[in-house]
Amino acid sequence: MAEPTKHLLLVEDEAALRQAVAEQLKDRGYQITQAESGEAALTHLSDFAFDIIVTDLRLPGIDGAAVVEAAVERYPDIVAIVVTGYGTVKDAVEAIKRGASDFVNKPFQIDELLHVLDSSLEQRRLKSENAYLRAQLEERYRFEGLIGKSRAMTRLFQLLETVASTSSTVLISGETGTGKEVVARAVHHNSARRVHRFLALNCSAIPETLLEAELFGHVRGAFTGAVGNRQGRLEQAHKGTLFLDEVGTMSAALQMKLLRVLQQREFERVGDSHTIKVDVRIIAATNSDLNQMVADGQFRGDLYYRLNVIPILMPPLRDRKEDIPLLAQHFLERFQALALQDAKNEDSRPGDARSAQDARSAAVQTFRQPMTVSQEAMRRLMSYHWPGNVRQLENAIERAVAFSGGRSQIDLSDLPPELLQVDATPVTSVVALPEEGLDLEEVIAGIERDLIERSLERTGGNKGHAARLLNLKRTTLVEKLKRLQRN
Ligand SMILES: Nc1ncnc2c1ncn2[C@@H]1O[C@H](COP(=O)(O)OP(=O)(O)OP(=O)(O)O)[C@@H](O)[C@H]1O
Ligand SMILES: [Mg+2]
Repeated sequence: MAEPTKHLLLVEDEAALRQAVAEQLKDRGYQITQAESGEAALTHLSDFAFDIIVTDLRLPGIDGAAVVEAAVERYPDIVAIVVTGYGTVKDAVEAIKRGASDFVNKPFQIDELLHVLDSSLEQRRLKSENAYLRAQLEERYRFEGLIGKSRAMTRLFQLLETVASTSSTVLISGETGTGKEVVARAVHHNSARRVHRFLALNCSAIPETLLEAELFGHVRGAFTGAVGNRQGRLEQAHKGTLFLDEVGTMSAALQMKLLRVLQQREFERVGDSHTIKVDVRIIAATNSDLNQMVADGQFRGDLYYRLNVIPILMPPLRDRKEDIPLLAQHFLERFQALALQDAKNEDSRPGDARSAQDARSAAVQTFRQPMTVSQEAMRRLMSYHWPGNVRQLENAIERAVAFSGGRSQIDLSDLPPELLQVDATPVTSVVALPEEGLDLEEVIAGIERDLIERSLERTGGNKGHAARLLNLKRTTLVEKLKRLQRN
């Protein structure tokens, strides 16, 4: 996608210099309007929304700082660069206070100006992208702490609304870190049961005998260590929701007891014969394929059908990459807020050396700026395959905030090492060989297309770099691209 032409207002009273700079900028693709005074600049500004203003500070009449102030007031997003004479850094600082993005010293090489322009434009782009993402977060795509705007997630939100209004049993399946527990909580908090408890029990975390007592409770002397009578989670969650995590790891005996709870909503405490009736919604989660476990005889089929009344399948993050920028932004804001809190707490520590206090005040200042993710780092976040899904992304952002060391931008080098390695997907698992066979040429063409697209994506469309990534000659890559476009 080609960048739209940038409109630049150039304010300089020295005609020869102005003309020279204008020509060089025009060569770099900028659309230039020239003004020979502050007054003329203000007239141009009232007529047109420039993207950029480059102004000399010392002008006869209205000076550059006042022009910058007027420009920024009218167009808050404008990039304003001031040009200062020798020894007037103080004035430049003053102009920055009044809204300029940066400055260059006179005399300057055109490359210096171009460099300052590029970095200011990049800053502005990130800032507006950031504001855009934040607006998206706040507006539409939030369902009780669940972030996502991909097709898969929007459909999930619709499903959740329906599910929440019922008391049916739900089975949530998905890889680790895809958000099964967040979804379970969201269902509870959007249901009429929200005024009662949501309790979670991880079936794989405790030994079987204890799990049974946790679930059903026990009476005194039911087993060694059972000193008193105790309510189980099922009783505690009466009228609320019980989340049974990793339900696939339950023993056969417990599976049978759980089946009875689902069928009759009744059970006995361990060591007791008195039957207890409860009204509990069960939400179960698993990251193994329960259907397959039923086929293999490792999980009761009747229990599976009782649990699987409303199946919810959490898609892995790599299948909904559109959500990555939104999630990254969400976690960035959260961890930045935490970092700011930490820095403030440190800040108020009494009796410290002055210099240490200054350093922390600086840290507080930095964390106050909204942080952004550099384009390069974002591209890497997008191309990674995220075996640990959202949790892994969350951890990566937390680490990056810590590693950013007070910079207001997350760079490639702040990302964890596993993201910096080239994707080393084991060749054997790339493609499954289905029962009915496949078309080898077609599959290989598909893989080729995918890798070429990804290499171009990673290199920002630079064919030379992309070819190098794939160990191809540039001409070979170009030929392949042509062939792909024809098909
Ligand atoms: N859609 C989402 N929006 C915001 N945060 C999310 C989302 N999905 C997951 N998370 C966050 O990712 C982390 C992992 O989510 P969760 O614990 O629900 O995963 P899980 O599927 O239960 O994983 P596991 O199988 O390992 O238990 C949590 O910190 C959660 O808040
Ligand atoms: Mg979980």
